[in-house]
Order: sequence, then C-alpha cells, then structure tokens
Amino acid sequence: MTRISQQSAKGRSAGQRGPVRGSSRCGHVLLAAVLLAAVWAVLPRDVLAQAPAVPASDQQVALVTGSTSGLGWELALRLGGRGHHVIVHGRNEERGAEVVEAINAAGPGSARFYRADLASLADVRRFAETLLADYDRLDLLINNAGFGSAPDERLLTEDGHEYRFQVNYLSTFLLTHMLMPRLLDSAPARIVNVSSGAQTPIDFTDVMIERDFSGRRAYAQSKLAQVMFTLDLAEELEGTGIVVGSLHPATYMPTGMVRRAGVEPRSTIDEGADAVMQLVDSDDYESGQYFSGLRPARGNDQAYDPRARARLKRLSQELTGIRCDMGRCRYVGG
Ligand SMILES: NC(=O)c1ccc[n+]([C@@H]2O[C@H](COP(=O)([O-])OP(=O)(O)OC[C@H]3O[C@@H](n4cnc5c(N)ncnc54)[C@H](OP(=O)(O)O)[C@@H]3O)[C@@H](O)[C@H]2O)c1
Repeated sequence: MTRISQQSAKGRSAGQRGPVRGSSRCGHVLLAAVLLAAVWAVLPRDVLAQAPAVPASDQQVALVTGSTSGLGWELALRLGGRGHHVIVHGRNEERGAEVVEAINAAGPGSARFYRADLASLADVRRFAETLLADYDRLDLLINNAGFGSAPDERLLTEDGHEYRFQVNYLSTFLLTHMLMPRLLDSAPARIVNVSSGAQTPIDFTDVMIERDFSGRRAYAQSKLAQVMFTLDLAEELEGTGIVVGSLHPATYMPTGMVRRAGVEPRSTIDEGADAVMQLVDSDDYESGQYFSGLRPARGNDQAYDPRARARLKRLSQELTGIRCDMGRCRYVGG
C-alpha cells in the first residue's frame, strides 16, 4: 500500500495558518462550495489530503513513527500532554484518528495523522516531502515504527527488499535524512531510534537473508542496523545541536508485535516509554549512545566496527538514493 493521507487536527487557533473562513454572503459561500466540490472531484486524493499543517508558532513539533499502536501510541500521548504538536504516523487510519482525537481532547498539545507504509520507499519519500511542505520546524523525531519477528516468514517489500530490513531500518535511514533540513533548522533537536536488545550481526554477503532465514534473525539484524545508523548519525551531526540516541526500550511489552509473536509480556509500555522519554529529555548522555532501558549499554560488537558501519551506510545510500558528501547527506533521487 502506498497511499499517504492525513486526518487532522484540532480546530484553528490563534496564530495558526490555514484556510480562512468564507464570506458571510450566501452567494459567495455557494460559489465557493461549488468550486471546492469541483476541485475535490478532479484532484488526486493524496493532494487534497495535504492541507497546510497548523501547529502554533511557539509549539514544538514531534514526529513519532508507528504511533498508532503500542509504545508509539503512549509516546504520542505523552508528548501531546506536554504541549507538543505531534505528527502521528502509521498505516491504520482508524487507530491514527483515535490517537489524534485523544491528544486533541486532552490538550494542551495537538496532533495530525499521516499514513505512510514504510514497506514502500516511494511512500516514505512522499511522506517526507509532505512533512517538509507542511511543517517549518521539527524538534523531535522518534523512529519507533517496527515490524516484529512474527510471522516467521521471509517477506519482501514492494521494492523487493527483505521486509524487516526495510521497514525497521532502511526506511528510517531515508526518512531521517530527508527530514534532516527541518531538524537542522530547528536545532537544538533530537532523534531517538527505538531499536531492541535483539541484535544479530549483518552478513554483508546476504543482507536480504536469502539463506537461513528466520523472522528473529531478520528482526535482530534490522535492529542492529538502527544502532549502527545512530552511531553514524552522531558523527555526521556533531556540532549541529542535534543529539541522537538509540535504545532497547523494555523487554516484551504488551504491544502488537509481542502479541503476534505469542510471547507473554514481561514489562509495561510505561517502562518502555519512560526509557524513550529519558533520551528525549536528558542532557546527560553523549550523542550516539545506546541504552538498554534507562541505562547506557553496549550494542552488538558489529556496531562499533567502522568498516561494517561504512558498508551498511554505502548499501543504504545505494538503495535509497541518499548521497552523503563531507558528512552532509541528501536525497538525490534514484
Ligand atoms: N514490544 C516490545 O517488547 C519491544 C521490545 C524492544 C523493542 N521494541 C521496539 O519498539 C517499537 C514499537 O513497537 P511496539 O512494540 O509498540 O509494536 P506494535 O504495537 O506492533 O507497533 C508497531 C507500530 O509500527 C507501525 N508499523 C509497522 N509496520 C509498518 C509499516 N510497514 N509502515 C508503517 N508503519 C508500520 C505500526 O503501525 P500500523 O499498526 O498502523 O501499521 C505500529 O504503529 C518497535 O521499533 C519495536 O521493535 C519493542
């Protein structure tokens, strides 16, 4: 599925941009309605869905990918409760609308939902382009969306890549780099990559796991790739005011992916959310650091191998059309 749409949002408030109210004259209103109906009929749905976003001018903007469920849902609510404008993301529009409603009803923050399938690089590009057009700031990016180890089947994305590698890692690589100009404009800003303690080294001769596939292995290599990406980003972003961290939030929280794996939960979503929020709030860690829950930790050894990281980065650039020059990366197409 490649459609992106959004459901907004709180009503307009002072200082917000967006369409203004129509004329009080009945004829003008009717004419406007007819024109709108005509435009609605001819424009593609995606274009119509992208009305300008309207956070207040002093409101911090946070994107939480995968916030239609589990940990991301809780993070979106917490950020909304702090007054952020939250960009809620996922594939499920009904749950997306529920999160938006909950944030807007509770206040003081606001929210909008954007649908984008991370199993489609075209969708990710359109999502990023839409956000760049809709928002003039982005203070916080939490790359949380993920697909777990179940089912134990080798799945491919529409781009032909191994599914977990793309959804959990490659799309995050592309999205983060495409959104970087907004994060840089908004610095001090923060990026949190929600990884996992389940990490297994990447076999660079078989990144798409055509041999000896298991869902656990695919999940674990994608999660290590996120930790490697975080370390690279920390280097690239040194001196920019953007701090980046990655973490294993908590073990077997009662979320969608854990339910699908048939595993008995061992921790709470609150514990995982506390750990993520520590990386959002704390000034007490070095950019690039990996955490297990609330504690600094060490990821799999491969994460600290600069040659392995360079290999992953090269491959990721080739697969996404991102090019990095003198530490600055941008989308060049392809
Ligand atoms: N649960 C745990 O114990 C645990 C432990 C360690 C790490 N984590 C990490 O925590 C993060 C959150 O997972 P969760 O446990 O909260 O699982 P979850 O309840 O299954 O939530 C996953 C989220 O990712 C989104 N998502 C999945 N595939 C997607 C795709 N192709 N395109 C766009 N969005 C997609 C889902 O959106 P839709 O439902 O709308 O498609 C959903 O919002 C993941 O990165 C996971 O690896 C979880």
